[in-house]
Amino acid sequence: RIAYVNGRYVQHADAAVHIEDRGYQFADGVYEVCEVRQGMIVDMTRHLDRLGRSLSELSIGWPMDRRALILVIRQVLRKNGVTNGMFYMQVTRGVARRDHAYPAHSVKPSIVITAKNTDRKAIDKKNADGIRAITLPDNRWDRVDIKTVGLLPNAMARQAAREQGAQEAIYVDAEGFVTEGAATNVWMVGADGIVRTRPAEHGILRGITRTTLLDVAAKEGIEIREERFTVEDMLNAREVFITAATSICFPVVSIDGKTIGNGHPGLVSKQIREAFFDIAE
Ligand code: PDD
Repeated sequence: RIAYVNGRYVQHADAAVHIEDRGYQFADGVYEVCEVRQGMIVDMTRHLDRLGRSLSELSIGWPMDRRALILVIRQVLRKNGVTNGMFYMQVTRGVARRDHAYPAHSVKPSIVITAKNTDRKAIDKKNADGIRAITLPDNRWDRVDIKTVGLLPNAMARQAAREQGAQEAIYVDAEGFVTEGAATNVWMVGADGIVRTRPAEHGILRGITRTTLLDVAAKEGIEIREERFTVEDMLNAREVFITAATSICFPVVSIDGKTIGNGHPGLVSKQIREAFFDIAE
């Protein structure tokens, strides 16, 4: 496998960044994960726009201009033979002697890109069987709208899920409303047939898959409301599903050990998943 690290294509096994990189010391960096389908980068423009927003919220510069970045991404995909898979792109503030405040002199941002083919069978199985989730209090900071590499709460949540035989952890805010998953956005279909997902103004990452699914649903004539819902609403839902760039739309069939709907993947998530690839650029 080949990785791109700060201007060079290197063997994945030898790829390394400096010990004083601020990504390593302070999680002072941002990232994107993108899906690749039949050689095409799904929702590329939206992912690059969000990368730009994350960088600007942290006053980190672009590591290179956007056109060059796209060329590098394509090279990484090509060198790794990725046609159906994903790439991971991380930009940190760069290397500076340890000091909490941003370095006074401008440093060059560090960039790393890796790519791999995905295990299609595992994804198909999750879509066919559905996944299990747990809920837990949202203990993250207030700026989850920035896609930073500071993911320790998310890692702990996923670990808790794994220890309970589940694949995702769904966060709940102090008022009892669902925010999002450890690495996904959460959706429910109520008894009224209406699909709901939390508004992206506060408390969640504005998922790219989420944004595209809103377009897809509109085109399919599926009614979706960007409205908060409680854990109780979710547990009593007809369907629950989660979305992210690498998993698109996984049905959730059990939460905290309680069966959702009839315990099988629902029709709405199936319809949305199938429509997704006709519309995503
Ligand atoms: N996670 N919410 C969180 C906290 C996420 O980490 C992600 C994505 C999403 C979905 O966003 P998108 O549709 O843009 O992928 C929502 C990526 C896949 C990850 O961390 O691996």
